[in-house]
Amino acid sequence: MTRFTVAIDGPAAAGKGTISKAVAAHFGFAHLDTGLLYRAVGAKVLAGGDPVQAAKALTPKDLEGDLRTPEVAQAASRVAVLPDVRAALVTFQRDFAVRDGGAVLDGRDIGTVICPDAQAKLFVTASAEVRAERRYLELADKGLDVTREDVLADVIERDKRDSDRAEAPLKPADDAITIDTSEMSIDQAVAKAVAVIEACR
Ligand code: DC
Repeated sequence: MTRFTVAIDGPAAAGKGTISKAVAAHFGFAHLDTGLLYRAVGAKVLAGGDPVQAAKALTPKDLEGDLRTPEVAQAASRVAVLPDVRAALVTFQRDFAVRDGGAVLDGRDIGTVICPDAQAKLFVTASAEVRAERRYLELADKGLDVTREDVLADVIERDKRDSDRAEAPLKPADDAITIDTSEMSIDQAVAKAVAVIEACR
């Protein structure tokens, strides 16, 4: 029975998702993108729902569908300031984190609030310009009608809201290792993350 939790936090579009997936595959761990939980709640609110009710009633089915749009990202960041929304999502995340076989969770408050006892904590970041460019290419590739300026403004606005909120703000845990991916390829960033986690085993 191995329980090993990897917490990966960082700002929007820093590469957390790509790194988390690759790291989970490398170690054979399960992966939870916790941003999807907030995006699913945000999508329900855009459809006219109540944020707290939506968070309490969330089911795995709600995580399907296209939640990776700028509108849903902003709605997610807005509902994420609400303490009752965050509280409704805690148990699901903590249960996932302690599953047998190991788990990687990525988000904003995994190392600080959700899993303060995680065996490995990473804070993955990059300059706002680099993050916006990567997200722009990703959205444009999906055929979304976006401009670089809009994507940069969106990323900056979301980071500010996520960092300034009173409840579980975006920040590195005191014992997190920071990886700045601004000048790294995906392979380099993954290799660095694997090495950091390996050293915690
Ligand atoms: O990781 P992401 O971009 O999909 O997250 C969308 C929003 O959800 C993000 O702007 C803030 C919120 N979020 C959060 O508050 N806490 C988390 N653990 C994950 C996401």
